[in-house]
Amino acid sequence: MKVLIVGSGGREHALAWKISQSPHVTHIFVAPGNGGTETENNIINIDIKASDIKGLLDFAKSNEVDITIVGPEDPLVKGITNRFEKENLMCFGPTKEAAQLEGSKEFMKVFLEKYSIPSAEYKAFTNAKEAIDYIKKKGCPIVIKADGLAAGKGVTIAKNINEAIEAIHDSMNSQIFGDAGKKVVIEEFLSGEEASFIVMTDGKTALPFASSQDHKARDDGDLGPNTGGMGAYSPAPIVDKEIHEKIMNTVIYPTIAGLEKEGLKYIGFLYAGLMIDKNKNLKVLEFNCRFGDPETQPIMMRLKSDLAQLCYDACRQSLQNSELEWDDRKSLGVVMASKGYPYEYESNQDIQNLPKSENDLKIFHAGTKIENGKLKSNGGRVLCVTALGSTVHSAQEKAYNAISKISWKDSYFRRDIGHRAINRED
Ligand code: AMP
Ligand code: GLY
Repeated sequence: MKVLIVGSGGREHALAWKISQSPHVTHIFVAPGNGGTETENNIINIDIKASDIKGLLDFAKSNEVDITIVGPEDPLVKGITNRFEKENLMCFGPTKEAAQLEGSKEFMKVFLEKYSIPSAEYKAFTNAKEAIDYIKKKGCPIVIKADGLAAGKGVTIAKNINEAIEAIHDSMNSQIFGDAGKKVVIEEFLSGEEASFIVMTDGKTALPFASSQDHKARDDGDLGPNTGGMGAYSPAPIVDKEIHEKIMNTVIYPTIAGLEKEGLKYIGFLYAGLMIDKNKNLKVLEFNCRFGDPETQPIMMRLKSDLAQLCYDACRQSLQNSELEWDDRKSLGVVMASKGYPYEYESNQDIQNLPKSENDLKIFHAGTKIENGKLKSNGGRVLCVTALGSTVHSAQEKAYNAISKISWKDSYFRRDIGHRAINRED
């Protein structure tokens, strides 16, 4: 089987690495990939951007690619699957109509309401004055979200009215998120513990992957600005058997059934971001129409099943008899970012002394490139150092020990990834 993976992040490195272990796979192309995929023996980087749908389509056709697996949300929301399917090419990822679950917060909220899936109370606005009046009526804390895709930066949790008004002005008047923020969704603030719950679906069957938790805030103690994610671990201890069943019954099954009822074709990964409170009540914070980054990295370390075969079976709508096999160990990944991320940062710095992969250690790359045979930083999130251990604590120790060996002038990373899970272990 020839596989094309679309994207250039840590998620795509981890997916490509896992897929390369399948006995059914003869060729793995990653477009455009990164320094990590370039240095894997059996993976070939292709210089086509993830947003260049026509370029990807031409490549898949002329190289007789059997299945294309899409990592990021952008090409999905823009309709890569629709285009590939028109040409009878297999593409793992939802159609653009179904990807609206991530592409528009309002679409998602209307869908959740219609199918009685628990979520925060909300209202959508295209008029700034009406939005501010609503905020004044509801009070703070309150959550303001750009309706469209904003690379994980479109959410503000406003502690007071001034912060809320500023967020409305930034999004609707100054349009710092472009068209994505002309409409905003204003949501009730939810407290509790977050978990990421990701399933693979063929449109009828939902196969739950291992649970995980990520750390979105930049700084230790879950403080500072939100990022794409500074680290993650799997499984999430908060998702016990009872909560797992509850998520499947109140969120996943109704969503799959609702999509089918609406005639929205969804084959791919469905990611539910959840808030779980002290009484084990859960609410959906967000849907993503793809795998999480960095959740993919620790989850792929634990997956024993053949991911290529699973994606292929999903595209043929025959997941009903599939089962997943997991490594029982815990897995934890720490993101090494460029100092300054998520704001301005410097790229093109030398990265040296990367520890070699072992059975329980893997360094996934995101923003890296190889220049004249040397590894350089090339983005905000650069590496995800991922380790397995009998406990989250031992996985964490292994990951930080590997980090201590890496030489890179302006790296930045959190020192407390996994703290919630580790507190429960102690
Ligand atoms: P989203 O992109 O909608 O998942 O939001 C990004 C992050 O903002 C989430 O992972 C939460 O940490 C936080 N967040 C979003 N919505 C809410 C909410 N209603 N209440 C509390 N925190 C939220
Ligand atoms: N780690 C959060 C996300 O992938 O959206």
